[in-house]
Amino acid sequence: MSHPIIQDLERRYTVKKYDSNKRISAENIAVLQQAMRLSASSINSQPWKFIIIESDAAKQRLHNTFANKYQFNQPHATEASHIILFAHNPAYTKDDYRKVVDVEVSSGHLPAEMYDNMLNGAFAFAEANTNDAGFNGEWTKAQTYIALGNTLHALGRLGIDSTPMEGVDSELIAEEFKQELNGYVVEVALAIGYHKEGEDYNHGLPKSRLPIEDIFTVL
Ligand SMILES: Cc1cc2nc3c(=O)[nH]c(=O)nc-3n(C[C@H](O)[C@H](O)[C@H](O)COP(=O)(O)O)c2cc1C
Repeated sequence: MSHPIIQDLERRYTVKKYDSNKRISAENIAVLQQAMRLSASSINSQPWKFIIIESDAAKQRLHNTFANKYQFNQPHATEASHIILFAHNPAYTKDDYRKVVDVEVSSGHLPAEMYDNMLNGAFAFAEANTNDAGFNGEWTKAQTYIALGNTLHALGRLGIDSTPMEGVDSELIAEEFKQELNGYVVEVALAIGYHKEGEDYNHGLPKSRLPIEDIFTVL
């Protein structure tokens, strides 16, 4: 199919080896930040923080977190141009949501007189996903995957290579980035940059997906 969206998505693939000499421009990083900020989330909760690992010092800190497991992803920590940590709030509260509703009003999206309706009505979705201990990390984590998918598409459009990584050590990341995470949890990250010509075994392989008729039911 020759549609430009499909071409972008065909070209995007999971990089296995980065060219450590190639860097993403500051302009493109700014585009990515806006694209991620515009991601949709349930009740517009935005229960995330995105930590962009750019400096050599931060890359070394991330590299250290692969000490115990997922070593196959470890080289990306220092060889990719940037790595984005997708962090979710495991205990999203009504006070967190209040900040969102404040912006709903100040942006002109929501009439001020609807404030309480929105705060109490929509937050029922969060409550339905919260256990007695206040944990709603399954629900908030799901929102970060929407941002991840959106980021992958934006990267495809920009012609920037990437590697989504669930192969990250959440516990060691929590220790190493304790201050920056402030209680948020990282279970997925995204290395971004440019593949190393001739050394990335995944580059140029055909896409491998189940057939349309296996995954769609059109009624
Ligand atoms: C949520 C998620 C986690 C993934 N984790 C890893 C990972 O830790 N390491 C890795 O090399 N690839 C990882 N992948 C890449 C997938 O294996 C890859 O997307 C899939 O095989 C399809 O290939 P493609 O991305 O090249 O189209 C992950 C992908 C997703 C979406």
